[in-house]
Amino acid sequence: MKVLVATEKPFAKVAIDGIKNVIDEAGYELALLEKYTDKAQLLEAVADANAIIIRSDIVDAEVLAAAKELKIVVRAGAGYDNVDLQAATAAGVCVMNTPGQNANAVAELALGMMVYGVRNLYNGTSGTELMGKKLGIHAYGNVGRNVARIAKGFGMEIYAYDAFCPKEVIEKDGVIALNSVEELYSTCQVVSLHIPATAETKNSINYDLLNKMPKGAMLVNTARKEVINEAEVIKLMEDRCDFRYMTDIMPAANAEFAEKFAGRYFATPKKMGAQTAEANINAGIAAANQIVGFLRDGINKFQVNK
Ligand code: 3PG
Repeated sequence: MKVLVATEKPFAKVAIDGIKNVIDEAGYELALLEKYTDKAQLLEAVADANAIIIRSDIVDAEVLAAAKELKIVVRAGAGYDNVDLQAATAAGVCVMNTPGQNANAVAELALGMMVYGVRNLYNGTSGTELMGKKLGIHAYGNVGRNVARIAKGFGMEIYAYDAFCPKEVIEKDGVIALNSVEELYSTCQVVSLHIPATAETKNSINYDLLNKMPKGAMLVNTARKEVINEAEVIKLMEDRCDFRYMTDIMPAANAEFAEKFAGRYFATPKKMGAQTAEANINAGIAAANQIVGFLRDGINKFQVNK
């Protein structure tokens, strides 16, 4: 069996060593395609792979068609909007993610971006503190939970809204569960986004929603760029000079944001929420184990295209 790690944004070396151990022990072969720049390289590499480990790499119908021997794709991470699930199901390919494995890394970055924002991008001027501020966690999954845990240490007042997570689960963590997304935004000065990119959420973070936030508002996005209505966020930031936007996913209109909102806008050059050795080890090794479990024993616990 051949397992391909296809990562445009590579894992830390130590994670690759861990993945290799799992694959070696199973008696499988490991192939690496890292930092590729062209889809053609991916199409060539997948040709004889039985299993693929990816990150945000796009696995569409064309990639699936080129992967004639493929049985399973594991997205080493949480969001699987980069995989065409319908095409995978049609091709008889199992798709999995590794939920929770990189959640702490993303949550730590979210808090880091909050501090960076309220301290005026470390420019030496007097900023504000997070203590006592109202934090709104938009979607209470693995990352949202970790954000709540860390934000407690900062002394923030923590609120959450999640359309699918029961209120009792949220409140058990000492977090106030709100009834609607509108209530979350009108209550909280800082909102941290943890929603997936789906047909329902795309472009959903718009002018009207963000304009409900109180004065001195800050939006932190470590989720997906697709959920943001960029044109409306630009309009809002033009209308409200108190509004800050910190994002780990560079918007399509990055140049315009950077030029118009210097000092209250920041984007990482490449999504780096999950870029830690620990997250790479956790997600990468989990992916390798899930592949072995599936190919050897048919275990499909984390399958997302059932
Ligand atoms: C995820 O969905 O797990 C995160 O967005 C991390 O994505 P990455 O593996 O591309 O860094």
